[in-house]
Amino acid sequence: MVPASEFARFKRDPLVVSTGYDYPFARIPEAAGVDVIVVGDSLANVVLGLPTTRDVGMDAMSLFVGAVGRGARDTHIMADMPYGSDAEPALAVANAKRFLSLGAHSVKLEGPKLEAVKALVSEGVPVFGHVGLLPQTAKNFKQVGRAAAERDEVLRAAEALAAAGAFGMVLEHVPDDLAAEITRRVPVPTVGIGAGPGTDGQVLVLHDLLGMHAGNYPPFAKAFADLHGAALAGLGEYCRSVRARAYPTR
Ligand code: KIV
Repeated sequence: MVPASEFARFKRDPLVVSTGYDYPFARIPEAAGVDVIVVGDSLANVVLGLPTTRDVGMDAMSLFVGAVGRGARDTHIMADMPYGSDAEPALAVANAKRFLSLGAHSVKLEGPKLEAVKALVSEGVPVFGHVGLLPQTAKNFKQVGRAAAERDEVLRAAEALAAAGAFGMVLEHVPDDLAAEITRRVPVPTVGIGAGPGTDGQVLVLHDLLGMHAGNYPPFAKAFADLHGAALAGLGEYCRSVRARAYPTR
């Protein structure tokens, strides 16, 4: 398990991150050797079938953080702060400590909530930033940072998060050249999702990268497997075998 204090090495070595939400799907990324499992609030969409990430709160997230903590004991687990849970610095600290007590090693929060970041850092809670497309508050899912003013805003947010003590940050759905520029400018590792090849690492939602066909499939996601197809084939065979009385055998 790589602790937050050693993440500087990922300015050199590529940082591989996936999400993970429950016990079996924490064991698999751990066995595959990912560096970080993010218990993302994307579980609202891909696990619970809810319309937005705003639809999960601390209680639901805590259930999943605990499951991932039990499934991946040797991997860095990062818990996403759900919408509203980091609205005030003291609230953010209390909620983050709840996640740490359930097995998380760090937390991630969306946007430049600098006072919350500083409070977390001063309480010894490692915190990761997240800039660019911010699903909790986004009005649409278009790329962020194409216009000059928006680009500048994302760049300044990234620099401010690093200065406030974030030990790294997700860059979501921003132009490749902006992601590369942020990566050059900030001293902490950047992890891209739909941000091109110029970041220090990459993150994908587990259900997208394994081809589970859950929720909306973003244009930048790549399926590295076809779990949906494999599961359908297995279940189809099970149905056929039972109906043909071929399973179980006497
Ligand atoms: O919720 C999520 O899945 C995320 C990923 C981009 C890490 O925030």
